[in-house]
Amino acid sequence: MDQELQHFINGCIAVEETTASIYKIFMNLIPEERPFWLDLYKDELEHSFWLTSGSRSEVIELLPSMKLLPSMDHITNTLVFIEGKITQIKKNPVTFESALRTALEIEESMVEIFTNEITANLLATDHKSLNDKLIAAERIHVTKIEDMMICRGFLQLS
Ligand SMILES: [Fe+2]
Ligand SMILES: [Fe+2]
Repeated sequence: MDQELQHFINGCIAVEETTASIYKIFMNLIPEERPFWLDLYKDELEHSFWLTSGSRSEVIELLPSMKLLPSMDHITNTLVFIEGKITQIKKNPVTFESALRTALEIEESMVEIFTNEITANLLATDHKSLNDKLIAAERIHVTKIEDMMICRGFLQLS
């Protein structure tokens, strides 16, 4: 497999897995909201599985010769952001509201990773692509988190 492509996929897997681990931390820190975090945690593990398993051949076909660097930057920045948050929550108290805000930022970054220019070209090639599936999944997460924030009065509908 193309080395740059493998690097890109590995980056996406790392983002999914690091996100899963921050949700697991939230699950333990905010036990009264465990079902909410458990749900997101399981989903992220599943996304990582999509990227590592059977879908791999599909990804190879769909990502031919494109400039992967801009998306790699975004992946790296997202990873740095999540890891920074993990360090932060180990030292500071976490409220459900602050955890939701962090989660929302992570999910929005993930949507951006999978919807950037490069990935958009892919979508034109095959609407049932793995990228499509990932975008849809992360968008559902954004909505889920926003709905919870609205429900608890942390976010106002404009
Ligand atoms: Fe995900
Ligand atoms: Fe997600």
